Amino acid sequence: MAKWLDNAIFYEIYPQSFQDSNGDGIGDLQGIISRLDYIKELGCNALWINPCFASPFGDAGYDVADYYTIAPRYGTNEDARELFEQVHKRDMHILLDLVPGHTSVEHPWFRESMKAEPNEFTDRYVWTNSIWVEPEGMGSLRGISDRNGSCAVNFFSNQPSLNYGFYNIDKPWQQPMDAPGPLATLEALKDIMRFWLTMGCDGFRVDMAGSLVKNDPEGKGTIALWKKIRSFLEEEFPEAAMVSEWGEPDKSLQGGFHMDFLLHFGPSHYNDLFRCENPYFARDGKGDISQFVTKYLENYEKSEKKGLICIPSGNHDMGRMAKTLDPDEMKIAFAFLLSMPGAPFIYYGDEIGMRYLEDIVSVEGGYDRTGSRTPMQWGDGVNAGFSTASKEKLYIRQDESADRPTVKKQMEDENSLYWEIRKLITVRQSHQALQSKGEIQFVHAKEKTYPFAYMRSSDEEKILVVINPSNREESFAFDKKLGKAVYTLGGKVEFTDGIVKVPGCTVGFFEL
Ligand code: NOJ
Repeated sequence: MAKWLDNAIFYEIYPQSFQDSNGDGIGDLQGIISRLDYIKELGCNALWINPCFASPFGDAGYDVADYYTIAPRYGTNEDARELFEQVHKRDMHILLDLVPGHTSVEHPWFRESMKAEPNEFTDRYVWTNSIWVEPEGMGSLRGISDRNGSCAVNFFSNQPSLNYGFYNIDKPWQQPMDAPGPLATLEALKDIMRFWLTMGCDGFRVDMAGSLVKNDPEGKGTIALWKKIRSFLEEEFPEAAMVSEWGEPDKSLQGGFHMDFLLHFGPSHYNDLFRCENPYFARDGKGDISQFVTKYLENYEKSEKKGLICIPSGNHDMGRMAKTLDPDEMKIAFAFLLSMPGAPFIYYGDEIGMRYLEDIVSVEGGYDRTGSRTPMQWGDGVNAGFSTASKEKLYIRQDESADRPTVKKQMEDENSLYWEIRKLITVRQSHQALQSKGEIQFVHAKEKTYPFAYMRSSDEEKILVVINPSNREESFAFDKKLGKAVYTLGGKVEFTDGIVKVPGCTVGFFEL
């Protein structure tokens, strides 16, 4: 695993909405370059940018029409090369978003695959053998090709499934993983990775990584497929870093991913933290962290330290954290995020508490995700410094409320969420125990109780993290004396006679 992952803190950029450099109302790669110093100053040392390749943008770019070309609205391949260089110049790293499971209907591979005459791309996608036969449980594209078949779709119905084969075969049209079509798809994927890694990106966030092989209920085929990719990377790009959108670290890390995210769907109980009716990190203290912890530990043990379990503050697919937590609650949530193992991921704008816009119309397949994808709010200028375009020309409407948070306002206020996050990052980066590979032991994480406490440790140090998001004083038994506080927020944590007393809305990290 690349050494830089040991202390990586990622910043996710939705390129449409970060910074527009040419006044056309949509973000671009030069805009990102112009804000690298901001990201570095915040303390993040790695980036993930959502897909920025040529696309009809039916799903915000997760419908790729050409894997080898930057979408003109974001710039050129030369801009991408410059972005990689500028990132590296700052001692940072960058992951692109790889979408291996499907393409856009406009991809030339799909156009060829739709032809009645067999050709090189006939088996590049998952087709049934007759228009009257639909692939079960997958949804399909039908009646749009001369080819007599239905094509399975992977997500929206304009995203045909690429063919990596079936693990269990029960229909004549299903192909095994080692059939020529699936093998060619895999080679095409490697070529794409080769291209961008050679140009200088540091790896990939992989879209829907857990569902490439079909009829594969336990993921065995997909794990085997990713193992092959890992061997290819070990041989040609041993420094490349891979993070999966899978949400089941026991499987993804076994497949050779270095990192897996916890997601707002799937079995992780991630939503219990910040996004449910009673989030654990809300001040009213009605939440429950125990199921999250049980699941986390299960994954932590099963993954045998093969890679990192990463917890995001949010992403472009879920409601913003500010939808359910206020800025003070978010400070405590970030104290947790930035003291857990794995590489943390901060979604752009979460560091200033950007809000979720409720009443926004869907843009480019965003639907209710659109409210989390609005333009970054930098300062007081036109469009909060995001773009010089007229307001009407903005790609997505911006938060226009008078009290909207901006980077400028947050930087001017030393009690802001922004400054708390900077402080937390500095603390994390000066203690190895708090970084990606420091071990974790949960000390106090009972059902429906506060506070929450865990110990992080490396060869050199042990740190006890105590977090009480509720507004009540709470306590727990602990058999060691607390040492120096390396971080505190809120009230004063007290230790007497084997009991740790934690005032409401308080966090402390203590050396042991
Ligand atoms: C997950 C991505 O994060 C999401 O935005 C996209 O719509 C689907 N995968 C389909 O690619």
